[in-house]
Amino acid sequence: MDNRQQLLASALVEHISVGTIILDTQLRIQYWNAFLERCSGKRLEDVRGRPFTQVFPEADTLYLHQIIEQARNEGRHVYTQWRDTPSLVRLTFERAQQNPLMLQSTLLFPFRIAPDDALHFGLVLYDTTDLAKSSNKLEAALQALSVKQTEQEQLIKKLEKANDQLLQSEKLAAIGQLAAGVAHEINNPIGYVFSNLQTLAGYVRDLLRIIDAVESAGGLEDLRQLKRSLEYDYIRSDIEALIGESEDGIDRVKKIITSLKDFSHIEEEEFHPADLHRGLNTTLNVVNNELKYKAEVIKEYGDLPDVECIPSQINQVIMNLLVNAAHAIEQFGRITLRTAHEGDWVWLEVEDTGKGIEPRLLNRIYEPFFTTKPVGKGTGLGLSLSYSIVQKHHGRIEVDSELGRGTRFRVWLPVRQPTPTEESPTPHE
Ligand SMILES: Nc1ncnc2c1ncn2[C@@H]1O[C@H](COP(=O)(O)OP(=O)(O)O)[C@@H](O)[C@H]1O
Ligand SMILES: [Mg+2]
Repeated sequence: MDNRQQLLASALVEHISVGTIILDTQLRIQYWNAFLERCSGKRLEDVRGRPFTQVFPEADTLYLHQIIEQARNEGRHVYTQWRDTPSLVRLTFERAQQNPLMLQSTLLFPFRIAPDDALHFGLVLYDTTDLAKSSNKLEAALQALSVKQTEQEQLIKKLEKANDQLLQSEKLAAIGQLAAGVAHEINNPIGYVFSNLQTLAGYVRDLLRIIDAVESAGGLEDLRQLKRSLEYDYIRSDIEALIGESEDGIDRVKKIITSLKDFSHIEEEEFHPADLHRGLNTTLNVVNNELKYKAEVIKEYGDLPDVECIPSQINQVIMNLLVNAAHAIEQFGRITLRTAHEGDWVWLEVEDTGKGIEPRLLNRIYEPFFTTKPVGKGTGLGLSLSYSIVQKHHGRIEVDSELGRGTRFRVWLPVRQPTPTEESPTPHE
C-alpha cells in the first residue's frame, strides 16, 4: 500500500459508523475510532493503553475470555450477535435514544502487521438493530404462520368429520327413500297374497262342507249333488293357481328383502374382494320402484374379477347414479348398465337417455349441495358423496353428457387397493 492508500484506509476507519478497536495480546486498548468515541463518550487519549475490561467492566466475562482464546489459539474470526446474552459490550449507539435495546453484533479476530510482528486483536462492533428488528418480525411471522397451520389442520379435521357425517346422513336419507320404495314394492305382492288367502279360506270352508257331508248325507248322489253345487272342479283348479301365485308373491318379497340386506351391509366397513355385478343387481332390485316407470334397464355386463372394495359404499354410488339417471328422464327412456375389465382396472357405467347436463354446469355437479332439482327432490349430495367414496377407493369418475341426448357416468376402480406406501395406479384410457 502506498502512502495515499494508507491515508484513505485510516480515513475510512474514522468515518465508518462501525466501532473499531485494536487490542494488544494483553487486551490493552491500542486504538479506537471516532465512532467509538462518540458512542462511549470516552476519548481515545484517555483509554489508550488501558485494559479493555477496565474501560468496559461489563465485558469482563468468561465468554469474552473464551472467544479471545478461540481467536488466539485457532486464529479464528469469532462472531457474536445481538441474540447472545449477555452482549459483549454495552455501547450506546448513536440512535440508541430511540432504541434502548442497543442491539449489536461483534467480530473479534487476530491479526499482525507483518508475520514477525506482535499479535493484535481487532474488535468490530456494529449496530444490528434493524437486522434484529426484521429478524424479530420474521420470527413473529413464522410463529403466526405455524399458528395458522395448526388452525388449518384443525379445520381439515373438522371438515373430514363433517364429510363423514354427511356421508352418514346421506346414507340415512337414502335408506328413507329406499324404505318408501320398498314399501311400495312389497305392498303389491302382499296385497294379492292376502286376497288369495281370503279366497282360499272360502274354498277350504266349502271343501270342509263336502267332507262333513260324508257323515250326514243320505247317499252318494246327495254328495255328488253337493260337489256340483259348490263347483268342486273349479275350486280344485283355482286352488293350484292361487297357491302358485302366492308362492311367487312371497318369493318377490323375499327377493326384495334379501336385496335390501345385501345392499345395506350397514355394519361392514372393510375393503374386501366382492362381485360388482351382484352389487349392481341388488341395487337395481332395491331402486326398481324409482326406475320402472321411467326407463327400460339394459344390462351389458362384461367379465369382471372380484374387486377389492367396500361393497355397501359402491352400491350407494351405483344407487345415486341410477336415481339421477331416472330423474333426468322426462317421459320414458333407457338406462344402460355396462361393466368392463381393463388390466388392473374395472369400470362400471350408467348411461341414460335423459335431458343431459349443461356444459357450464359440468364442473359443478360434484359440489356438495349443488342441485338443479326442486326442494325436496334433490339434496345435491349424491354426486359429491359418490365422488368421495370413489376417491377413497383410489378410483375416479368420468362424465360425458350431451344436452337433450343423455348422460354417461363411468366409475373406474382398481381391482386391488394400493398398499399405503404404493403410489396409486393411473387408469389407462
Ligand atoms: N344423469 C344425469 N343427467 C342429468 N343431470 C344430472 C345427472 N346426474 C346428475 N345430474 C346433475 O347433477 C346435479 C347434482 O346431482 P346430485 O349430486 O346427485 O344431487 P341431486 O340429485 O340431489 O340434485 C343434479 O341436480 C343434476 O343437475
Ligand atoms: Mg342425486
